[in-house]
Amino acid sequence: MLQRDFLWGGAVAANQCEGAYRADGKGISTADCMTAGTAERKREYTRGILPNKYYPSHEAIDFYHHYKEDIALFAEMGFKCFRTSINWTRIFPNGDETKPNEKGLEFYDRLFAECLKYGIEPVVTISHYETPYHLAETIGSWRSREMIGHYLRFCKTIFRRYRDKVRYWMTFNEINVLVLNPEMAAGIRLEEGEAFYPVLYQAAHHMLVASAEAVKLGHSINPDFRIGMMMLYPAFYGETCHPLDQLKCLEAIDIHYFFSDVQVRGYYSSKGKKFLARKGVNLKKDPQDEEILKNGTVDYIGFSYYNSNVASRQLDRDTTPGNMMHTIPNPYLKASDWGWTVDPVGLRLALNYLYDRYQIPLFVVENGLGAVDKAEADGSICDYYRIAYLREHIAQMKLAVEEDGVELMGYTPWGCIDLVSAGTGEMKKRYGFVYVDMDNEGKGTLARRKKASFAWYQKVIASNGEDLD
Ligand code: BG6
Repeated sequence: MLQRDFLWGGAVAANQCEGAYRADGKGISTADCMTAGTAERKREYTRGILPNKYYPSHEAIDFYHHYKEDIALFAEMGFKCFRTSINWTRIFPNGDETKPNEKGLEFYDRLFAECLKYGIEPVVTISHYETPYHLAETIGSWRSREMIGHYLRFCKTIFRRYRDKVRYWMTFNEINVLVLNPEMAAGIRLEEGEAFYPVLYQAAHHMLVASAEAVKLGHSINPDFRIGMMMLYPAFYGETCHPLDQLKCLEAIDIHYFFSDVQVRGYYSSKGKKFLARKGVNLKKDPQDEEILKNGTVDYIGFSYYNSNVASRQLDRDTTPGNMMHTIPNPYLKASDWGWTVDPVGLRLALNYLYDRYQIPLFVVENGLGAVDKAEADGSICDYYRIAYLREHIAQMKLAVEEDGVELMGYTPWGCIDLVSAGTGEMKKRYGFVYVDMDNEGKGTLARRKKASFAWYQKVIASNGEDLD
């Protein structure tokens, strides 16, 4: 049995659902400059907002104006928690102001109050893929140590303001994605001639210090806060039992443990230091940084899990897409409409590997199936494929708890209401229990409709995960 206070819920990110991108004094974020199309989003965002281009985040699903209706639907499903993020540029439009934007703060007052009205705990990601564009332009975002001060001013403002409304926080969404998609994760696009490792790992150091300072600050503002890290968990298999394939597998996952090792243990691992040296990275650190990292370890690990990957000693192989990276196809697994493998057992393995390594509570804060949903003639949306995906993943998650003894706080499937895809900017890649009438070109009535998975998830929550049929 899962614990009685298990946090069932759903997850979104501000920039992928709120829309209202200039409302009430909001500034421009890097996400607001991202067009649709995987490659285009990365390539074009540094040019700002251009005329005659479509930017999906500008309206998204207009959660900013529909949040009451949407939270009511979440409450009807029985959510115990709702994971969202605070759009940094609603609070500090350019990122470097000394005073926050009151109207932006008021929006989240209303949003969190609405959640609490139904007994839904807000779970807040402080920074989810939306850096203030002004900071990216003027100081190069996390390349610069100056970002730490701007981020901490943002943290202090929201920690104080929502001190009695929000208990669960995460400092950065998928911090390890910095090395896979620095544009999205950190507002950094490498310039011609800039070296990958020195720039990105220096940025990583700044983010790790900022995260540690935020944890300490948060606990000093409210000792009841539970502040976590958040990583994309890219489960890896070695392609064969050839020892060198297994070694590749270890190297592949170590790239990601580099971040969680620091955030959970409070120092760079010896292997992490060797890795940096091998890559020619000589981190510029302030004398107090080691102490900061030591005193700012996280309370829990939030992670996303969608698909697994295969590592091989052989180069030049055909690959298929997965979340934020391409992988060698796995002949034992089926794939989603977007080519991502579907691997429920991979989630049980992820929970085991993380818990064995760190021994602190885990929280599955993203998991789900991006699929094309079609309305039937009577308007119903029969997303049985999504139910099947979630059912199998929840079953494996329960085995990890019940059979393997993993300590798990909760489960918030991604995109509990349809929203803009981070990877592609599409609307047609849908994850929700709630359908939103909006298409890839920004056309639609924004009307909300329950899918078949809505009633199914409601039953799952009501039975605390016992009834998955
Ligand atoms: C996660 C991100 O990596 O994957 C989300 O935290 C994102 O922001 C999710 O939306 C699913 O990816 P995509 O590309 O299907 O939106």
